[in-house]
Formats: sequence, C-alpha cells, structure tokens
Amino acid sequence: MDGPDVPVEGAEGGPLAPGGHAVRLGRLAEWARAPGALTEDVLGPDRQRYRATREPVVQERLLGSRLLLRHAVAVAAGTQPHRVTVDRDGRGRPVLRAPEGLDVSISHTADVLVVGVARGRRIGVDVEASDRPLLAPGLAERFCHPQELAELGELPPAARNAALVRLWTLKEAYTKALGVGLAHDFRGLRPRPDPGSGWWLDAAAPGWRLRCDRVLDRFLVARALGPDAP
Ligand SMILES: CC(C)(COP(=O)(O)OP(=O)(O)OC[C@H]1O[C@@H](n2cnc3c(N)ncnc32)[C@H](O)[C@@H]1OP(=O)(O)O)[C@@H](O)C(=O)NCCC(=O)NCCS
Repeated sequence: MDGPDVPVEGAEGGPLAPGGHAVRLGRLAEWARAPGALTEDVLGPDRQRYRATREPVVQERLLGSRLLLRHAVAVAAGTQPHRVTVDRDGRGRPVLRAPEGLDVSISHTADVLVVGVARGRRIGVDVEASDRPLLAPGLAERFCHPQELAELGELPPAARNAALVRLWTLKEAYTKALGVGLAHDFRGLRPRPDPGSGWWLDAAAPGWRLRCDRVLDRFLVARALGPDAP
C-alpha cells in the first residue's frame, strides 16, 4: 500500500493499487494551454466560472489544474485523459464521475498547481508559499489550537511564521479532504508529528495521515489521507 512516504511527483507514476495515492505537481507554463474545443471539454461545470473571471492568471489556474488532474487521473486509472469526467459537489469539492473508485483534490497558488488522486480513500491537498505572512495580530488565534499557540510562543520569532504556514497547510489539506474547507473550525485540529510517518490528528480523526513537503524551494505541499476503505 502506498503510504505517506509517496513524494510529490512532477513526473509519471503508474496505475494506483487499492489504498494507493499520488500527489502531482505542475507549473502553469506547462499546463495552462489547451486548444479552444478541448478547453470547453476540460472545464466541464467550471466553464461559466472560467468565462466570468477577468484575471488571466485565475483562468490559467482553473484550466491548468483541470488538465493536470485529468492527466494524473488517467495515469492512476490506466485510461486516457478524455475519458476522465470531473464534477463538483455542492460545496465546490471536485468529484470524479469517471473513472470510478478514485478520490481527487486540487490546490494552486502563484504558478504552482497540485493535484491529489487516491484509490479507495479520501485525499486532500494544499499548496502555500512557505513565506506566506501569517503573523498579523489575531490571525493565529483564529486557526490554532490553544496548545499550538503556547508552543508557537516558545519558538524563536524567526521560526514562528514558517511553523504557522505548515500548520495551516496541513489543516487545510485535511478539511479539503472532508469537503468542508474553511467552514471547519481549524482551532479544533491539532496535527502532531509522528516520527517516521509524517503527521497525525488525534482521536478526532482516527486513521488519517498527513504529510507536508517543501517543493521548488519556496512552497509547502500538504496532503491528508483518509483511512482505507473497508
Ligand atoms: C476549499 C478552500 C479551502 C480553498 O481555499 P484556497 O486556499 O483559496 O484554494 P486552494 O488553491 O487550496 O484550493 C482551491 C481548490 O479547492 C477545491 N475546493 C473548493 N471547494 C472545496 C471544498 N469544499 N472541499 C474541498 N475542495 C474544495 C477546488 O477544486 C478549488 O480549485 P478551483 O477554484 O480551481 O476549482 C476554500 O475555498 C473553502 O473553504 N471553500 C469551501 C466553501 C466554504 O465553506 N467557504 C467558507 C468560507 S469562510
């Protein structure tokens, strides 16, 4: 079974075994190009959102992440990208209509695209710039557990923002796997390092495993993996 030791991949993987997962990284410059007809097809239910946005980079992220997702799913399922159909649930979470049996998640920031694909379990991914400023007064209190605030207070000031971004990214990956995102109270979550296997959440989320990787020198990519389907 693939566990949290699966790295963030920019290159091909292969078909996923039950319980397996893949996290794929892409750049806008390589993925945000598609011929017009293909664009309509790839965007699916997001066509209107794509047309409504006036910012080219937002359009590019939308299109590029769908192309990367279709590609990653095709590799994971051993099929062709044009056979992949992506929908969204009522809260905006991407849902695969075809092929069946895979869960997916999308994240993007700046020119970086990340998609997660898992077979027979939930997956959530999040990418953030590792220097995203989170030290504004009162901000950490809105998403940190009281124990985390105490631990952050003991860190040297120069290390605090990096620790906050890592916590944020892990928590967001988990809540995206659940499909609720920021509607979840992040203060109730407390990811803790688990030597040898990444991060874990306490009894509130048994069987979940988390991992956070530094990529391209200035981004953090977190993933959250639900327990294996019975
Ligand atoms: C999901 C969410 C956390 C994304 O935050 P973000 O850091 O701005 O963006 P990311 O790049 O990490 O992720 C964006 C992707 O998450 C996915 N997504 C959107 N809603 C999602 C949800 N409820 N669950 C899981 N994934 C979701 C989408 O694929 C989106 O990509 P797209 O815009 O290209 O379609 C945020 O939009 C959210 O919480 N949405 C849920 C709606 C909600 O309840 N909002 C309450 C606001 S207080």
